[in-house]
Amino acid sequence: MLDSMPIENPFQDPLRFERQTPECVIVIFGANGDLTKRKLLPALYRLAFDRRLAAGFAIVGISRTPLSDDDFRGKMRASVEQFSEDTKVDEDVWAAFARGLYYVAGDIGDAGLYQRLGEKLKQIESERHTGGNALFYLATQPSQYAPIAHGIGAAGLGKGSGWRRLVVEKPFGHDLASARELSDRLHEVFDEAAVYRIDHYLGKETVQNILAFRFGNGIFEPLWNRRYVNHVQITGAESIGVEGRGAYYQEAGALDDMIQNHLLQVMATIAMEPCASFGATSVRDERSKLLRSIRPMTPEEVRQNTVAGQYGPASIGGKDVPGFRQEEGVDPNSRTGTYAAVTFFVDNWRWAGVPFYLRTGKRLAKRVSEIAIQFNTAPLHLFNQDSGDTSANLLILRIQPEEGISLKFLSKRPGSGMTLRPVSMDFNYGSSFGERSPSAYETLLLDAIVGDPTLYTRQDMVEASWSVVEPIQNAWREATPAFPNYAAGSWGPSAAEEMLARRGHVWRKP
Ligand code: BG6
Repeated sequence: MLDSMPIENPFQDPLRFERQTPECVIVIFGANGDLTKRKLLPALYRLAFDRRLAAGFAIVGISRTPLSDDDFRGKMRASVEQFSEDTKVDEDVWAAFARGLYYVAGDIGDAGLYQRLGEKLKQIESERHTGGNALFYLATQPSQYAPIAHGIGAAGLGKGSGWRRLVVEKPFGHDLASARELSDRLHEVFDEAAVYRIDHYLGKETVQNILAFRFGNGIFEPLWNRRYVNHVQITGAESIGVEGRGAYYQEAGALDDMIQNHLLQVMATIAMEPCASFGATSVRDERSKLLRSIRPMTPEEVRQNTVAGQYGPASIGGKDVPGFRQEEGVDPNSRTGTYAAVTFFVDNWRWAGVPFYLRTGKRLAKRVSEIAIQFNTAPLHLFNQDSGDTSANLLILRIQPEEGISLKFLSKRPGSGMTLRPVSMDFNYGSSFGERSPSAYETLLLDAIVGDPTLYTRQDMVEASWSVVEPIQNAWREATPAFPNYAAGSWGPSAAEEMLARRGHVWRKP
């Protein structure tokens, strides 16, 4: 009988990998959407290619468009071919992977959809021995999260013979109250321990490496505090515009889209206290504690310590680039910010008085995400310097591109006399390891399958982030600068330079 036949495992070679992944089904709501095509399917296929998935692993795509299982397989193959940056489709691996792809069409508001899904899950469980384990992945509009969780619960699919988990994409609410409300709705069906809020920045190798760098080495931690660190700059700059996501982005804006989640999580990773162990609770407790130590701003402090921006049209390299208000789906009078710069202070013993400057924007001069830690200068200047550059030591952790770490320090210039010049000591991921890094989605999907929430955001962290972002949202609603205030292709509004200049600092031009 098919039921009792052991499945030959084409995906797993136990000798090659430390972690055995359990059998399970991933149910993707929003299976026809961009995220599924660009990120989820390429990542899952790559995990199959690397033999990280269990033999009976299956995916059920859910969307409104009527499709057969075979149509869905064809579409997903096209997505994997188009969006897998560094993985070719291998016919044998694909054939085994595609056998586990299923599709259920329906409207998320229709109870019948969840009945049909339940039947499909039963069928898969008996055919592929998935043990009742299911991961529901919400790759839909945020307004659909609560209705889907409700539909899953009402059909009795939130519990089963195996484990049930829910992965939710950001935004987790649009302010503190809505984040709490969303969480309450999800908790009606899934316990907090079963809710995996994904922040793909935490899955990036370079962000995970911050923990290795800080806590795996002895020499940096003694310097990692207010006595030695002058200030920290965290940049998440993008050169692209809103890329067809005008309607979503117009609602979110740069502050909610990048700072509330990705950059604050990066800041928490940089600034958190050492954790007692590398366990999920310990790491997440420390991240959460740090977020809760960030000082919320008064309206006056928001005026001093934040800058909002929106890009206007420009000609870049002879090519006309539209301004944000001219982008598709964007209101021609939009007041949404495409740039945000914020100075945060952390009220704890380690960081009191050290400014953390965060900035992000669309259509900036360059795509670069990095953390720059500027140390205090030497107490006495004994030597001449041959450039106007700062003499401060700078540690740069490059998240992307050119992933790596550099330490800038002063060195004697060859020749007679004692003239110093800044030089750099560089570590580069590519040349040091010479191997492929998994994408953030590969890492995070695998973590959700094995039940490791270390790199996922807990509700208390979401609330702590909104607590510091909400006063900024409120003050910006009251007084927005005249938009547009920076040209596409530039480094953002001049007010952002002035914000740092008030403390004698300058933004890096990476
Ligand atoms: C997403 C934002 O979460 O992160 C996008 O919604 C942004 O607006 C993207 O472009 C940036 O991610 P990455 O990995 O390209 O830096």
